[in-house]
Amino acid sequence: MKILIISKRLIYVKVFIALKNQFWYFKFSIKSSMFINQTALINKKESWDNHYFLLSLESHEIARESKPGQFLMVRITNSPYPLLRRPFSIHAKDKRNIEILFQDSGIGTSLLSKKRQGEKLEILGPLGKGFHIEDKSKKENISLIGGGRGIAPLYFLALELIKKNLNIKVFYGGKSSKDLPVAPKFKKDNITTLCSTEDGSKGFKGLITELFEKELEKNIPSFIYACGPQDMLKKISEISITHHIPAELSLESIMGCGFGACWGCVKKIKRGKQTGWYKICEEGPVFPAKDIVWD
Ligand SMILES: Cc1cc2nc3c(=O)[nH]c(=O)nc-3n(C[C@H](O)[C@H](O)[C@H](O)COP(=O)(O)OP(=O)(O)OC[C@H]3O[C@@H](n4cnc5c(N)ncnc54)[C@H](O)[C@@H]3O)c2cc1C
Ligand code: FES
Repeated sequence: MKILIISKRLIYVKVFIALKNQFWYFKFSIKSSMFINQTALINKKESWDNHYFLLSLESHEIARESKPGQFLMVRITNSPYPLLRRPFSIHAKDKRNIEILFQDSGIGTSLLSKKRQGEKLEILGPLGKGFHIEDKSKKENISLIGGGRGIAPLYFLALELIKKNLNIKVFYGGKSSKDLPVAPKFKKDNITTLCSTEDGSKGFKGLITELFEKELEKNIPSFIYACGPQDMLKKISEISITHHIPAELSLESIMGCGFGACWGCVKKIKRGKQTGWYKICEEGPVFPAKDIVWD
């Protein structure tokens, strides 16, 4: 295998890879590649019902740069399988540490859930563009809607919005009470949190979007931030358009690199009058709801 960096001019890196009879050519923006690759110590681990896990990773460089909605690419093992790193939102941070909260949903997350305090993990981040909070003012009522593991980036976001004295309400839904592991954490931080479960084991019985629609009868928020399964996000997009509430949604995709080199994560997005394929890792994962083209 030969890797040739053709040019590294101010804005783009162009890479040419030759492997046996195959060739790849990548071009990616340096600006969006201001991330750090680091081996980080796991200094805390929590788990809920052996299904949801939280790892706190020591990396003050990544912690310093991270914004809500950004993510890490985590190398799961040193062996060749699974080869690709997995993406995880930044759930919380302090000066030295960043946290990820994840659900055991496959081979990679299952292996990750076996990691112990004191072990080390190779991480790349912070990646992507996060939620936009700079323009939010004190008068606004903001709703945060998280479905299942989609709650992960919303905790970090909620803490940052509170620092700006914004009035926030969190809607947190899952299939059952076991899918709401961090609900007590929101309550402990005095964040108004309304929960729903599909089986009725905690809070409102039904989908989180149904609970949100019921609340809209009493109060219309000025902005929505959401993260969760695609069907939930699609419904929130419809609600935001019907009620004229601007919204930002954090999308998921299977990712190869996480920084714009492989084109493995594209999604159809409207930009002005034009529709095109945009990389979720680089242009997102957060997009305005009105710009997302649902399949
Ligand atoms: C920007 C971003 C942030 C994310 N943040 C979090 C987080 O904070 N917490 C968390 O638990 N998960 C998060 N995810 C999802 C997480 O990356 C996947 O669950 C994980 O990669 C699955 O890896 P696996 O090896 O366990 O699953 P695999 O064994 O690779 O796959 C298991 C099943 O899940 C599907 N799958 C794999 N990756 C994804 C994906 N990204 N989206 C939808 N389906 C997928 C596969 O098609 C397969 O059906 C995030 C994804 C993205 C893109
Ligand atoms: S994951 Fe490689 S371009 Fe997005």
